[in-house]
Amino acid sequence: MSADSDRVGIGVIGCGGMGMAIVSRVLARDKRFEVTAVYDPDERSVARALGEISTHPDVCTDHRAVVDRPDVNLVMIASWNRFHADQTVDAFHAGKHVFCQKPMATTIEDCARMQRAWRESGAKFTLGFTLRYAPHYRKIQQLVASGAIGDLISLEFNETIDFNHGGYIMGDWRRLRENAGTHLLEKCCHDIDLINWITASRAKRVASFGGLDFFVPEGESHIERIGPSPDGKEPFQTWRSLVGKNPFTSDKDIFDNQVAIIEYDSGVRAAFHANSMSAIPERRMYLQGSEGAIRADLRTGTIELRKIGWDTPTLDEGLGRTDGHGGGDDILADELVASTLHGTEPSAGVLEGLESTATCLAIDEAADTGQVVGMGRYWGAFN
Ligand SMILES: NC(=O)c1ccc[n+]([C@@H]2O[C@H](COP(=O)([O-])OP(=O)(O)OC[C@H]3O[C@@H](n4cnc5c(N)ncnc54)[C@H](O)[C@@H]3O)[C@@H](O)[C@H]2O)c1
Repeated sequence: MSADSDRVGIGVIGCGGMGMAIVSRVLARDKRFEVTAVYDPDERSVARALGEISTHPDVCTDHRAVVDRPDVNLVMIASWNRFHADQTVDAFHAGKHVFCQKPMATTIEDCARMQRAWRESGAKFTLGFTLRYAPHYRKIQQLVASGAIGDLISLEFNETIDFNHGGYIMGDWRRLRENAGTHLLEKCCHDIDLINWITASRAKRVASFGGLDFFVPEGESHIERIGPSPDGKEPFQTWRSLVGKNPFTSDKDIFDNQVAIIEYDSGVRAAFHANSMSAIPERRMYLQGSEGAIRADLRTGTIELRKIGWDTPTLDEGLGRTDGHGGGDDILADELVASTLHGTEPSAGVLEGLESTATCLAIDEAADTGQVVGMGRYWGAFN
C-alpha cells in the first residue's frame, strides 16, 4: 500500500465486539478504508456487523474466501483465539497485511508458524495489544526508561476484574481453554506484555498457583445474595454475551483466581495477581527502582512517583481516568491506518505477541504442574 492508494479493502474475520470496535475506528479515520468482505460463523454477529458497515461487504462462507480476494488488502482478525494462527498464516500466504486481536495464538508452535509466515510475506502485522497504546502505560514506560526511579528492581501488578465481567467470561466461549487458552493468556496477556515492555527484558523463570473457587455450582447462592442490578439485570450477567450461560454452573476449565511470580533476565522480580470476582476492580502496578517508586492504576488514571528520601514529594504524573482500555483503541487505530498506508512499524507486532504468549504459557505450565518453569524451552522455539 502507499499513501496515494485511493482504496484499502478490509476483510473482517470475526465480527463480534472487539472485531467491530477496531474496524469501526479504522473506517472513521480514513475514507479510503472500506470493508469489502466479512466472515463469521455466527449469523447474529454478521447481521450486527452489516448494520454497522455502510458499504455492503460480501459475506463469505469461510476465512480463506476473505483472504484470497483481490479487493482485500488488510485482513482484520477478531475470532476466537484458537483460530488466530491459521487465519493469520493464510492471510500472509495470500500477501495481505494483518491486524489480529490478542492473544497472538494459544500454542508456542502456532506463534512460531505465524512468525515464519510473517517473515516470508514481508507484510505488516499489528497485534491488538490495546494497552500498549494507552497514554497511561506509555507514560509509565517512559518514566521507567528515562531512569525516573533509577534501575527497576522489583514490582507487583494485577488485573482484578469486576464480578459481572467475571460472570460474562464464565458464561462465554472464553470459559474453555480449547477456544481461548487459559484466562491468563486470554485476558492477562496484556498485563504480561506491559511488564515485558517496561522491564525491557524476557522472563527467565516463572512459578504460579491458580484455581476455580468462586464460579462453582456451590457459589450459585451469590446470585440471590446480590440480587438484580439497579436497572433490573441478573447479577453476573450484565455484560453483553452471545452465550449467556449461568457462570456458576457452566462447564469450564479456566481459573477464576491466580498468582504468579516472574524473574526476568535483567534480574527484575515481578508478582502478578488475577481474579474474576472483584469487588474493587484494579489494573494496578507498583514499581520499585533503586531511586524511587511508581504506583499507578489504569482504572483511576493515577500515576504517583516518589523518590527515596526523607521528605521527597509525591509527584502526580497521572493523566486522568479514561475508558477501560485507557484510550488505547483510538491510538491503535491511528497507528494501524499509518502502518497500512505508510509501512510504519506498529507498536506491538509479532515479537511482542510471541513474548507475551510464551510467558503466559510458561506461567500456566507452572500452575498446572506445581513446578518452577525455566523459559529456555519456550525461547528456543523462536529465532
Ligand atoms: N484488545 C483488547 O483489549 C481485546 C478486548 C476483548 C477481546 N479481545 C480479543 O478479540 C477477540 C474477539 O473477542 P470478542 O470480545 O470480540 O468476542 P465476541 O464473542 O464478541 O466475538 C468473537 C466472534 O468470533 C466469531 N468466531 C468464532 N469462531 C470463528 C472463526 N473460526 N472465524 C471467524 N470468526 C469466528 C464468533 O462467532 C464471534 O462473533 C478475541 O481474540 C479476544 O481475545 C481483545
